[in-house]
Amino acid sequence: MSLLAESKRVAAEFEYVDDDVRKAVVEFIDEMNEGLEKNATLMSQIPTYVTAVPNGTEKGLYLAVDLGGTNFRVCSIQLHGDTTFSLTQSKVAIPKELMEAKTATELFSFLAKQIEIFLKTHHEDHFEKHIKRRMTASTPEGYRNLEYFKLGFTFSFPVHQVGINRGTLIRWTKGFNIADAVGQDVCVMLQREIDLLKLPVTVAALVNDTVGTLMARSYTSPGKTGTLLGAIFGTGTNGAYVEKLSKITKPMDGHFDESTGDMVVNTEWGSFDNNLKVLPNTPYDAILDKDSVNPGIQMFEKRISGMFLGEILRIALVEMVKKPEIPLFSDVNSSSNDYHSTTTIAESAALYKQWGVDSSILSIAEADNSVGLRVLRQEIEKSLGVSAPSIEDAQAVKEIAHAIGKRAARLAGVAIGAIVLQTGRLGSLTVQPPKPSSEIVSDIKSLHLQDAAAATVNKLADAALPLTGAPVSEDDVIDIGVDGSLVEFYPGFEDYMREALRAMEGIGAAGERRIRIGIAKDGSGVGAALIALVAARMEKPEDHVNELRKKLVEVEDAIEE
Ligand code: BGC
Repeated sequence: MSLLAESKRVAAEFEYVDDDVRKAVVEFIDEMNEGLEKNATLMSQIPTYVTAVPNGTEKGLYLAVDLGGTNFRVCSIQLHGDTTFSLTQSKVAIPKELMEAKTATELFSFLAKQIEIFLKTHHEDHFEKHIKRRMTASTPEGYRNLEYFKLGFTFSFPVHQVGINRGTLIRWTKGFNIADAVGQDVCVMLQREIDLLKLPVTVAALVNDTVGTLMARSYTSPGKTGTLLGAIFGTGTNGAYVEKLSKITKPMDGHFDESTGDMVVNTEWGSFDNNLKVLPNTPYDAILDKDSVNPGIQMFEKRISGMFLGEILRIALVEMVKKPEIPLFSDVNSSSNDYHSTTTIAESAALYKQWGVDSSILSIAEADNSVGLRVLRQEIEKSLGVSAPSIEDAQAVKEIAHAIGKRAARLAGVAIGAIVLQTGRLGSLTVQPPKPSSEIVSDIKSLHLQDAAAATVNKLADAALPLTGAPVSEDDVIDIGVDGSLVEFYPGFEDYMREALRAMEGIGAAGERRIRIGIAKDGSGVGAALIALVAARMEKPEDHVNELRKKLVEVEDAIEE
C-alpha cells in the first residue's frame, strides 16, 4: 500500500460523523443529569457554591493564587468596575521535592511564603498598615477584617467541595504525591500557614480553573444573561456551567445563597463515558489508555486534551513505521529527495518514547499549508527525532494529525452543545433577519419559544436564513468563555466545534449562530478574585476559616500579652 493510501486509511479511523455527535450529546445529557442526582457518578457534577456570575461592575482589590501544575502563581487584581481590571503577578516553579514532600505542611508553608514575598514586593503599604493594626488588635471588637485581602485559591486537582471555601482533596495528579494531604481541607491547610506568617489574607474561595474561566469571561463580556459556560481545552479539559438549583437533587452540605436559583456546577467532564458507550475508540486510543497511569479513567479527556493528542499521533505513526510495506520515514534514496540525505530515526528518538511528542506539533501541522511543508518537516526533525523526513512523510503526518485534531474539536463541541441543550438556553428565541425576503422569515421575525418548539423553529430558521450574516440579537446570545492551548493555538478548533454544533438536534445552524465563544484569559487570576468577592458578600459570621483564624489570633494575642 502506498504511504498516501495508508495515511488516508489511518486518518479515516478518526472520523467522527454527525450521527456519532448526536448520539454522544444524548448520552452526555444523561450523564450530566445522573451526576446532579447522585454522588460517585462518571461526571462528578460538583456544586461549587458559586451561585451567581459577575456583571462587570464589581470593584475592589483581591488576591489570587493558582496551584495546578509546575508553577505557583500569586497575583493581585484590581477590578475597576467597568469590565476592566489590572493584574500584578509573580510566578515561581514548585521545587520537585515539594511535589513529593513528606508532609503537606512543607508544600503549604512554601506557598504562604510566596504570598508573603508578593505582598512585601507589591503591596508594601497595605502590608505595613496591617502590621500596625495587628499590634493594637486586642480591642473588645476582637480581630478586625477590614484590612484583609480576600484570596481566591485556584486549586486544579480533584476536590470534594463542601462550601465556597471548603473542600477536601480526593487525590493528587500531575506529578504531586503527598499522602497526608489526601482527605484534608486544602483551604484550611493554606490558611494555617498564612496565619503563622501573620499575613493579612483570608482564603475566601476555592476555585477550579473552569469556574475561574466562567467568572472571568462573565466579568469582561457581560451580556443580559451572563456567561453560561467556562471551558478549558488545554493540558486537560473540563467545563463549569450555570445550572438551575432545582435540578441538583443530590445532597449539598454547605451554606449558599439560594436567592439566585442558580449554582455553578463543575462537571469534571473529562470522565464522560468512561465506559465507552458512545465515544470513538481507535486502536491508538486503546494503546494510549492501556499504557496510561489511570486506565479506564478520563476517557473523554484522553481524546480531546493537549496532554494526549501528541501521544495519540505518536502511537499511530509508530504503528505505521512497524509495517515494513509502508514507506513512512524510510526514504533511503538520498539522490531523489530534496534534502539529499537518507531519512533516519535514531533509537532514542522522541517518536519511540511514551509521552515524548508534544501536542503542539498538531497545530504546526495544521497551520503549514506551504507546498514543501518546510515548517512541518523541521518540526518532525525537532520533535519526533526523525532526520531528513520527505515531503510525503510530512503529508502523512499532516493528514493524520488533522484527523486527530478535528475529532478532538468535534468532541469538544459535543460537551458545549450538550450543556447548551441541558440548560434550555435556546428555549427562547428572537430571530432577527436583516431583510425579510421570504414569507417564512417574516413569520418568524420574533418568536419566543419553549424547549421542544425551539427545534422546529431552528429548522425553520435554518431554511430561511443564510449560514452567516444574520444578526443575532444581543438578548439571544449564549456566551461561552474558553481557555487553553488547543482553543488558542490549534487552527480551526472553533470552526470544527461549530460544525458539530450545527449537526445537533435542537441547535442546528440557527442555534449555533447564537452561541458566542470567546477566549477568557487569566481565569485562574481574575476569576478567582471574582469568586473571592462573591464569597465575601456571602460571608457568614460562622464561616469556618474565619473562625479558625480568629481563634489562632486570640491565642497568639494572649501569648504576646
Ligand atoms: C481536571 C479538572 C481541570 C481540567 C483542566 C482536569 O484534568 O480534572 O479539574 O479543570 O483538567 O485543567
